[in-house]
Amino acid sequence: MKLQSFTLVAIAAVFLFSCSRQTKIAEKPAIPSGQNHGMIKGSPFVEDLLSKMTLDEKIGQMNQYNGFWDVTGPAPAAGGGAEKYDNLRAGKVGSMLNITGTERVRKIQEIVVKESRLGIPLIFGHDVIHGFKTLAPIPLAEAASWDLEAIKKSSSVAAAEAAASGINWTFAPMVDISRDARWGRVMEGGGEDPYLGSLIAAARVKGFQGDDLKSPLTIASCTKHYAGYGFAEGGRDYNTVDISNSTLHNVILPPFKAAVMAGTKTLMNSFNEINGIPANAHTYILRDVLKGDWNFKGYVVSDWGSIGELPIHGYAENSKQAAEQAVKAGCDMDMESYYYLNHLKELVNEGNVPMALIDDAVRRILMVKEELGLFEDPYKYCDANREKEVVYNPAHKAAVRDVAKKSIVLLKNESALLPLKSGQKVAVIGPHVKDKNSPLGSWRIGSDDNSAVSLWEGLQAHKNIEWLYAEGVKLTTAPASFTEEVSINETDTTGFAEALRVAAMADVVLLNIGEHGFMSGEGRSRTNIDIPGLQDELMEAILKVNKNVVLVLQAGRPLDISKASETVPSILLVWQLGSESGNAIADVVTGQYNPSGKLPMSFPRNVGQVPIYYSVKNTGRPLKNDFNPKMVFWSHYGDSEKTALYPFGYGLSYTTFKYGNIALSKNLEGGLSATINVTNTGKMAGEEVVQLYIRDKVASSTRPIKELKGFEKVKLEPGGSKMVTFLLTKKELSFYNDKGEEVFEPGEFDIMIGGSSDDVQTASINM
Ligand code: BGC
Repeated sequence: MKLQSFTLVAIAAVFLFSCSRQTKIAEKPAIPSGQNHGMIKGSPFVEDLLSKMTLDEKIGQMNQYNGFWDVTGPAPAAGGGAEKYDNLRAGKVGSMLNITGTERVRKIQEIVVKESRLGIPLIFGHDVIHGFKTLAPIPLAEAASWDLEAIKKSSSVAAAEAAASGINWTFAPMVDISRDARWGRVMEGGGEDPYLGSLIAAARVKGFQGDDLKSPLTIASCTKHYAGYGFAEGGRDYNTVDISNSTLHNVILPPFKAAVMAGTKTLMNSFNEINGIPANAHTYILRDVLKGDWNFKGYVVSDWGSIGELPIHGYAENSKQAAEQAVKAGCDMDMESYYYLNHLKELVNEGNVPMALIDDAVRRILMVKEELGLFEDPYKYCDANREKEVVYNPAHKAAVRDVAKKSIVLLKNESALLPLKSGQKVAVIGPHVKDKNSPLGSWRIGSDDNSAVSLWEGLQAHKNIEWLYAEGVKLTTAPASFTEEVSINETDTTGFAEALRVAAMADVVLLNIGEHGFMSGEGRSRTNIDIPGLQDELMEAILKVNKNVVLVLQAGRPLDISKASETVPSILLVWQLGSESGNAIADVVTGQYNPSGKLPMSFPRNVGQVPIYYSVKNTGRPLKNDFNPKMVFWSHYGDSEKTALYPFGYGLSYTTFKYGNIALSKNLEGGLSATINVTNTGKMAGEEVVQLYIRDKVASSTRPIKELKGFEKVKLEPGGSKMVTFLLTKKELSFYNDKGEEVFEPGEFDIMIGGSSDDVQTASINM
C-alpha cells in the first residue's frame, strides 16, 4: 500500500518535471514524447536497503568508475586513482569497469563491502564482446552463421570465462543495425537486417545470462548502443544521426526490443544524437519507449563519458545541466563522466531533480545486483580455482571452432578450386597466414595477444596436402595497438619475389589477405573500403604466375572486392574468426566442413554505393525506360550497377540446392503458412539457410521491396530434400507506422523464398 502511493507520487513528480520542461527539447523532436515514464518497484530487500541510504550513497550507486590501473599494486598517488579509492570507501561508487581477474576484483570488492557504511557490493562491467580469453569470431562474422544456437553457445562461453574471472556484467550484445561498411563498428553487430538482428540479439542475451543469473557462470548483459549509433552520417564514428520515425521504429529499435523481451538486464546509451537530441538525454527513447512501452525493469548506463559530451553536442549549457538532462531522460548510471557524482546532490537539494527519479535509478541498479546474487555473496565471482578451470577450457575451444567454421562464407568457387584435393601442392601466401594476433579481431580487451591458431598452424593438421609458405607483403608497418590507428605499409614490396616463386610452384594458391583486426572497431571508420595497402598488387602479381588463386579474405566489415571478384576464381570470406581461426579455415578449405555461411551485410561494388542494403524501397523510378534504355531518368548510377556485388543472405556451398515452388495458405489466426521443397542437387552433404522475405505491396507508409521474416537452416544429404514450412503471424506482416504503432494493413503480399535475398521464388497472397 505504502509502495503504491509512493509510486503514484513518483510518477506525478516525473510528470510534473516533464511538463515544466517545455524548453528547447519540446520544440525540437520529430519524434513525439508520451507520458509513460515507467517507474519500477523494488523487492522488499531493495526497498529496505534504499530506505537506509543517504542521498550521497544513492548517487554513489549511479556512479561507475573505470579501473585501468593495477589495483593489486601500490595504491595510486593523487590524480592517479587515489580519490577513487576514497570514494569506494565512502560508498560513492556503484560499479567499476575494466577490472578483471579474481584477485583484483576481490581486492576492490573487499574495500567496498568491508569499509563502506552499507557495504553494497559493486557490479563489475567489462567489454566481453566476442569472448573473454577464448575468443569466438567477431560478432558480424557469427551473424553470418545464421545459427542461433551456436551464437547463444558462444555467448555462454564468453560469460562463463568472464564470470570465472570476476566479471558479472558484459557490455554486450551490440545490436546496432548498420548499412554502412565505412563504420568500423559494424564488426561488433549483427549486420544490416532488423529481423535477423533481433533474433541474434535475443540469442546473445540468453547466452550471456543463461536461465539462472545467480549461477556463477552467467553474467548480466548490456544491450547497446541505444540508439541509432549505426546510422552515423557518412559512416564516421560518433557522427550525427538524422533518421525518420519509420527507420527508428522499423529498423533501429526492433533488436533492442527483442533483447529487452529476452530479459537483458541493462542497456547502454549511444554517443550520437538523434534528430537533434543526444541519445543520453533522449526522454522519448529512454522513458517513453524503453521504460514505458517495453516495461524495461533493468537500468541504463551511459556510454563512456557520454553525459560529459552533452555540453559538447551543444545540448547542455554546462556539466550540471548535462547531469540533470541525463537523469531526467532515464540514464541511471554514469560511466566515467563524474557528472552525477558532482552535481546530482545539488540538483536534488535545489528541487530540480525529483528524489523519485534518483530512487528509481538506484532501485533498478540494486535489483540487478540482487538478481546476480551479489548481496548473498559479493565474492561469488572471485573463486581463483574456478578461474583456472574455466578460462581456456578445452570445451570452449570446441564451441568457438564450431561457430567459426559456420561463420565462413563462400563467395565464389569457379572450377571448384575448393575444397582442396589430397596430394595437391598448395602455396599459402599473405601477411595474415602466420599472424596469431590479427585473426582475433577488434574488441577483445580481456584476451591474450597472439593467442589465435594461425592459418598456417591450422593447416598443418592436414598432412595429405603439401603446404608452401610466403608472407608476400607486410600489411602494417608498426605493431598495431588497441587504441592507436593502424599504419599500413604502402611501400615495401620486398616479399613479392619470394611469393611469386612459391606461387608458381603450386597447384593452388591460398591468398590470405584483407583487413588487419584493428582496422575495424570503435573509432575506425574508413572512406576507402578496399583491400588495404599493397595486398591488391600482390594479388594481381600472383595471378600472373598462377591463376588458381583462392582469396581467403580477412575482414571486419564488407570490403570492396570488385576487382578480385572478376579476376580470382574462388573467394572465401573468413572475417576475423577468433582463437580457433586457423583450425576453422582449415576445416573449410580441406572440405572437412562444407561452408554454410550467408552474408549478414551486403558487399558493395564500390564505396560510392554505401550505405547499401537489400531491404530498399522501390522508389517511383526503379526501372530503365523500356522504349529508350539510354534515357537517364531512372534511379540508378551512371558508372556502376546499383545492386550489391554480393547481397545480404548470399553464400555458396560445395554442393548445390534447388528450390521448388512456393505453396501458400491462410490460417485461421489471420496469418499464413508458406511451404517449399529444397533439394541437395550436388555430391556433398551440406547446409542451406532457407530464407523467407515478404513485400507488403501497398501500405499507408511505403514498405521495402523485401523484408526478411523467417529462415531455417537445413542439412541435406546428396539427393536429399526437405519440405520447409514457415508460419507467419499477423505480427510478421505488420510494420510500425510513423507514430511507432505496430499495424497490420490487409492487402496483397508477395512471399519470396530462396537461398539469398537476390535469388528467390515468389508467390502472392491477399491477406
Ligand atoms: C564504447 C562502448 C564500451 C565502453 C566501455 C565506449 O567507448 O562505445 O561500447 O562498452 O567504451 O569500454
